[in-house]
Amino acid sequence: MEYPKFPPGFVFGAASSAYQIEGAVNVDGRGPSVWDTFSHTKGKIRNSDNGDIACDHYNRMAEDVALMKSLGLKAYRFSIAWPRIYPDGEGQVNQKGLDFYSRLTDLLLKNDITPFPTLFHWDLPQALQTRYNGFENRAVSSLFADYTETVVRALGDRVVNWTTLNEPFEFAALGHFLGQHAPGKTSLPAYFRVMHHLLLGHGMAVERIRAVAPQCKMGIVVSLTPIHPQTDTDKDRQAAMLANQFLNHITLSPIYKGSYPEPLWGRTRLLHPAVKEGDMSLISQPIDFLGINNYQREFATFRWYVPFLQMDISGSDIADTEFVRDGVQHTSMGWEVYPQGIYECLRLLKDEYNNPPVYITENGAAFDDRPLEDGTVNDPLRVQFLDSYIRKAHQALEEGCDLRGYFVWSLMDNFEWAAGYSKRFGIVYVDYATQKRTVKESGRWYKGLIHAQSR
Ligand code: FCB
Repeated sequence: MEYPKFPPGFVFGAASSAYQIEGAVNVDGRGPSVWDTFSHTKGKIRNSDNGDIACDHYNRMAEDVALMKSLGLKAYRFSIAWPRIYPDGEGQVNQKGLDFYSRLTDLLLKNDITPFPTLFHWDLPQALQTRYNGFENRAVSSLFADYTETVVRALGDRVVNWTTLNEPFEFAALGHFLGQHAPGKTSLPAYFRVMHHLLLGHGMAVERIRAVAPQCKMGIVVSLTPIHPQTDTDKDRQAAMLANQFLNHITLSPIYKGSYPEPLWGRTRLLHPAVKEGDMSLISQPIDFLGINNYQREFATFRWYVPFLQMDISGSDIADTEFVRDGVQHTSMGWEVYPQGIYECLRLLKDEYNNPPVYITENGAAFDDRPLEDGTVNDPLRVQFLDSYIRKAHQALEEGCDLRGYFVWSLMDNFEWAAGYSKRFGIVYVDYATQKRTVKESGRWYKGLIHAQSR
């Protein structure tokens, strides 16, 4: 099979996050996070699953790094669990938590795998939710910077590439407006407060990293979902423009332009928290790279009765299985396979945001993988998915987009938030009963792609 060839130094890796794989929730002094609380609340997670054990990665870390090595990965994106470092969210540091990530870092480096840690991938210490209402309160932005400083002081001598937040829009919207993720709120003002305070926390953290470890490179990870008008009418185009502001420019614009996108921001001003003087310059200070996650695109249809957005924002339900609709493959999340979307995201950054250095920090798909009797896992749909998206990313790169690397989501099957263990995104299959890992066909394919780069 012929693989696309990327420039020398292009990084191919895999991604994961702490709550989704680590398990060991009560081990070595870890405190509870909002996801422990939420996943143990009846009716929130499919099949009442939770992350108590997950992939037991906390206890199998060495085996998992060996697995990464066997796949030929050049980089690994993982997240650090704030409640392992500060079980109470603030105050007393838990050395054992830091030690775990320090061991992971050393092992990765020993195996020539570059660590790309994310400081916040949604597992906010429950204590901060209880005490401050989480990121609704700007006190938590500066606590995030304190936590960042502690971690960077411990690992910054070995870790170069840091990202502050994973997908602020999704954490704010799914967790505080749509109620589908922790902490499960359904309030628009809460959504706007959290959104602003997350970005503020990002800015404060960047400032802190520059102060304590100026040699480090830092960025933020945002999810980009291109929104197309449902029909080619002015009204639907207007709805798509607003929806793009709500989902995509709400993070990009403050970070790169120092202001929230208009007209969306003006239309929602009654819902905003106080934006204090200096906030926007903290948020928009220079970063070294942007991480983007892309999974799908969406369509906007005009709705006059939805005040500021003028489109449906009911949120999409998770599908039961993978399916084909109108000849188009959909993943088992129900998401349309649309490789052109990743190209659109990269072009958007080049054309409207001055072509920043970009890593695709997540891209991948859930399909209904089933092991054969001999244990082999063949997932041709995922191979096709990855192949088509990676080719589109390659096209953008050839057109001058400053793309530096690609991380597949995910290294292995894991706890997929509200969908629990029912959705498998891994290029490695996990048998949760035995914790046995089996490299899928897509994992073998990915290994081949990486290998082909050095020839
Ligand atoms: C992203 C999350 C990641 C994973 C994928 C499928 O929104 O960052 O943790 O769940 O979706």
